Amino acid sequence: MGVSYVSTVESLKRTAVGVFDSGLGGVSVLHAMRQVMPHENFLYVADSGFAPYGDQSEAFVVERAHRLMDFMMAAPVKAVVIACNTATVLAVRTLRARYDIPIVAMEPAIKPAVHATRTGVVGLLATSRTIASASVRNLCETLGHRVRIVPIACPGLVDWVDDGIFTEHAVDALLETYLRPLLDAGAGTLVLGCTHYVFLREAIQKIAGATVADH
Ligand code: DGL
Repeated sequence: MGVSYVSTVESLKRTAVGVFDSGLGGVSVLHAMRQVMPHENFLYVADSGFAPYGDQSEAFVVERAHRLMDFMMAAPVKAVVIACNTATVLAVRTLRARYDIPIVAMEPAIKPAVHATRTGVVGLLATSRTIASASVRNLCETLGHRVRIVPIACPGLVDWVDDGIFTEHAVDALLETYLRPLLDAGAGTLVLGCTHYVFLREAIQKIAGATVADH
């Protein structure tokens, strides 16, 4: 049995890619990765006991990200994908400085949205921590010269998604409060700057309409 256990760990060592998020959101990233890399082994970790990250302090999110990395390094994994915008903007630098494996991260897709916009106004939906981060401020300053970028923090949405509720009246009502100012400002392109929001795409489209593109 001991030999068989070692051989399982050894094979994981060669093949597993770790993926983490605070909860369900990163599953949308995992799904896309499995489409393009069907032969890879993935280890998905949802930090559900400590979600939502977007409502926590920066120090708390950085600490959680390091704990999850320790866990995945021990699994072990050959690379890690941070399937979470909040963890990326707050923790990716210290993670890359500390761990000697490839760490792939994601930040809100402001750049493609700025290139795609036809109205000249881009709406950015993300968690409170992401919106308040230096990374997003820098992206907005660098890319916002000819295009107006309107950021909106959206507390509450992640909780609905982690509960598996994507379409109820209460979700639509909350989305309406976040989307209305963006639509009134003329946003024709929306950045879904949190991996959880992908699960709300239909509900968002119902309010924003088909002419609004998402990124
Ligand atoms: N899905 C994550 C993100 O992309 C985290 C959301 C949260 O836990 O607040 O930001």
